[in-house]
Amino acid sequence: GSGGTLKRSIVLVGMMGSGKTAVGTALARMLNVPFLDSDHEIERAAQMSVAEIFARDGEPFFRARESEVLERLLSGPPGVISTGGGAFLAESNRALIARLGVSIWLRADLNLLWNRVRHKNTRPLLRTADPKATLSALLEAREPHYSQAQLVVEAEPELSITDMAKKVVQTVK
Ligand code: S3P
Repeated sequence: GSGGTLKRSIVLVGMMGSGKTAVGTALARMLNVPFLDSDHEIERAAQMSVAEIFARDGEPFFRARESEVLERLLSGPPGVISTGGGAFLAESNRALIARLGVSIWLRADLNLLWNRVRHKNTRPLLRTADPKATLSALLEAREPHYSQAQLVVEAEPELSITDMAKKVVQTVK
């Protein structure tokens, strides 16, 4: 909707499987503001899935498209933005996100993340011989980046998506 009163966007960052898209969707509905998902925007522009883009054009190409999407969002209305798990790693992207609004790290531990992604086939970075070990290594390497987000919300597996969205609202207040 367009009836929201947000001055700046709320940008969810963190690992794949942390719930950025699900929580972001619920949060935007709750606040009556637009919702945008960076992966979805990339897919829409490329007319290909994230997995297809990685396979055909490689990760650097995907990262370039991801930065373009973040830049393009600067000229749009404030809303809730969920980013892909790699979006907050580059300093230039973190600077763009700081201009968009408040960054929130949806922090989740390895077991929660693994339980969410283990049966999905949509994450090209996890197409390895030992995807759980890969996920663990990504988490460890990325935490120092995610911890630069302005706020942190702990993902709790026992909370519903709606309750997670409420937790984000309480945290940004
Ligand atoms: C990635 C996470 C994915 C997607 C791409 C790369 C990453 O987004 O952008 O597969 O580097 O962690 P989600 O975090 O929405 O799964």
